[in-house]
Amino acid sequence: MLAARGHEVTGIDPAAAMLDIARQRPGGEKVRWIDGDILAVGTAECFDLVLMTGHVFQVFLDDDQVLAVFSSVRRHLEDGGRLVFESRNPLARAWERWTPEQSFRTIEHPAMGTVETWHEVIDVRVGRVSFRTCTRVGGQNKPTISQSTLAFRDHAEIERLLHKTGFADVSALGGWDGQSFSARSSEIITIAR
Ligand SMILES: C[S@@+](CC[C@H](N)C(=O)[O-])C[C@H]1O[C@@H](n2cnc3c(N)ncnc32)[C@H](O)[C@@H]1O
Repeated sequence: MLAARGHEVTGIDPAAAMLDIARQRPGGEKVRWIDGDILAVGTAECFDLVLMTGHVFQVFLDDDQVLAVFSSVRRHLEDGGRLVFESRNPLARAWERWTPEQSFRTIEHPAMGTVETWHEVIDVRVGRVSFRTCTRVGGQNKPTISQSTLAFRDHAEIERLLHKTGFADVSALGGWDGQSFSARSSEIITIAR
């Protein structure tokens, strides 16, 4: 969408399959795509805005990883540039709805037919949730299972990590449509400068 509006956009993901889908989206042909992470960006290149979408922030489990990501982003921001990303608010406890019953979805795929998908939580610890995503294609007996662990950090914790890496001005919204942030927001959209 940003590229279609005339912005110069670079998209980064270390999953080739995700990039294949992204390239086919409207405006995708106008984006420079990089298969890798932020370390694959030229050291001298700077951006006005760095966006981390799709809750990717939550895959960084250790604070050291987060600090390394924030430091890399800072090196690639123009003066006054912003880092914006979302993370699920731990107080909204989204994982309690990641049960097979509540998360079950059926998708009609043009090539693969009926695809069924659901989540199952395996373990909940302080600030960490491990779960399986099960996918069954075309009535297969056994689903394909992918296991993930996500970190759930609250706004204060995110702010602390940003301040540690030199981001001075940190604010939050409660959704991508600009809703104000409250303790009950399902999302924490962080904006850091
Ligand atoms: C839930 S998916 C979201 C996909 C897509 N970006 C979107 O917003 O719809 C999270 C994505 O983060 C990617 N990812 C994981 N580690 C990453 C990293 N260090 N840098 C950039 N992307 C990463 C994964 O490959 C995956 O495609």
